[in-house]
Amino acid sequence: MSELNSALEHPQYNYKVVRQFAVMTVVWGIVGMLVGVLLAAQLVWPVLNFDTPWLSFGRLRPLHTNAVIFAFGGCALFSTSLFVVQRTCQARLISDKLAAFVFWGWQLVIVAAVITLPMGLTTSKEYAELEWPIDILITVVWVMYAILFFGTIMKRKTSHIYVANWFFGAFIITVAVLHIINSLAVPVGMFKSYSIYAGTVDAMVQWWYGHNAVGFFLTAGFLGIMYYFVPKQAGRPVYSYRLSIVHFWALIAVYIWAGPHHLHYTALPDWAQSLGMIMSLILLAPSWGGMINGMMTLSGAWDKLRTDPILRFLVVSLSFYGMSTFEGPMMSIKTVNALSHYTDWTIGHVHSGALGWVAMVSIGALYHLLPILFAKQQMYSIPLINVHFWMSTIGTVLYIASMWVNGILQGLMWRAYNQDGTLTYSFVESVEASYSGYLVRLIGGLIFFAGMLVMAYNLWMTARQPQDRSQPVPSAA
Ligand code: HEM
Ligand code: HEM
Repeated sequence: MSELNSALEHPQYNYKVVRQFAVMTVVWGIVGMLVGVLLAAQLVWPVLNFDTPWLSFGRLRPLHTNAVIFAFGGCALFSTSLFVVQRTCQARLISDKLAAFVFWGWQLVIVAAVITLPMGLTTSKEYAELEWPIDILITVVWVMYAILFFGTIMKRKTSHIYVANWFFGAFIITVAVLHIINSLAVPVGMFKSYSIYAGTVDAMVQWWYGHNAVGFFLTAGFLGIMYYFVPKQAGRPVYSYRLSIVHFWALIAVYIWAGPHHLHYTALPDWAQSLGMIMSLILLAPSWGGMINGMMTLSGAWDKLRTDPILRFLVVSLSFYGMSTFEGPMMSIKTVNALSHYTDWTIGHVHSGALGWVAMVSIGALYHLLPILFAKQQMYSIPLINVHFWMSTIGTVLYIASMWVNGILQGLMWRAYNQDGTLTYSFVESVEASYSGYLVRLIGGLIFFAGMLVMAYNLWMTARQPQDRSQPVPSAA
């Protein structure tokens, strides 16, 4: 193994940490999505919780969200950002030791989550469930990551900072601020703490965090990926540098205000809800700015889509990004939210962003990256990438279409009244009506998950292929 590692050592850049994070992206993707599949199956056959507390839906759900967002998505972001910053700055990471600390520290955070969440140890704040000792570890690792990333930018040999790095930079700074402010709590024991905020303020801080976790973790960071890997894979320059500047500033200025759309018709003051709605509607413009810039980068190279499944992953992910950032602003309109909130429509929206955008752009970027990291000409099997592409696309479409149908069905059933003012349907009738949708979602999820297994096989075989060259060839970004 050490022989393999030294053969893969790059003369100029630290590829080791990039490779470690890339491999763990696939591993945690499989783990997180497997838990997602189990959750989807439990909603079809509730007996699958086996009457065991740590297999219950309530405990596994946060395990799923943490595993897919912070372990799978997080490792994809660490891997790509640490690669892109080196290549575009033409500088090695400032410290190999710091890089190793960030990798092992993040894996420790994930393992701590995998142990504590099924045990039922949780702050109960969505996407911020981990208890205070783990929160402190996250803060330390994140600050080290920031030092590593920005330190490398400071010693760059290029005169300008490439646009992908702005997005990664905004993601790193904002996630630090969000995490620290939302996690402020008073510990009362090793694994129990109480938030320093109370009542409506607590809810507002939580959804300011929650929405910006979407905006900066699941969007800005992945736009950073898009801005490097789409032009690279298409062999074309970014369509418009000016558009990238405008939509970058607009995106980060507007996202931060949109959180209240998660709290429509609650105790939050009405003006704050309306402000959240307006800002969410405005957000459509900068979101589509990014989508259009990515898509148009393919002008003159559209024919490549016929033969290049990696490019297909990247372009289809952009279409899902465009779709979910159209759907989101629509759902933030109060009257639409009155129908969609609490229903499976939200779950469909989440996964059109999560599977269609976040997972597919990461998978596309990884297929570009893995051969470079393992010093191979290309992945072991291009046809298998194509198979994976279709499995991901079909899986995502089945997932989101079934959740749209379920969501609208549930919303309409819950608001149906008889002439005498009584409800037409009981809640359990709406659950029964959702059954077939849950089954279709399970099938879609299974197909998407199986695609990840295909990827793992392709990765394994790529790593085992005989070396193409003993040293990866250094090249300019
Ligand atoms: C095989 C793939 C996947 C399957 C089968 C799956 C399944 C599920 C299920 C069954 C739920 C619970 C829904 C409910 O409470 O009614 C859920 C929630 C969630 N999943 Fe997934 N998931 C998958 C992949 C992903 C990925 C890749 C991400 C993110 C990158 C993700 C992010 C989320 C989030 C954020 C929630 C919570 C949504 C909310 O609270 O509104 N999932 N998933
Ligand atoms: C312009 C962009 C977007 C806007 C305005 C937006 C808006 C919304 C709205 C209104 C909700 C429903 C809130 C509720 O009824 O509780 C929601 C939920 C959600 N959205 Fe988006 N969305 C956008 C893009 C995205 C993207 C790209 C992703 C994922 C990559 C995403 C992930 C989520 C998640 C995870 C939730 C569920 C939160 C929860 O309740 O647990 N959104 N979004």
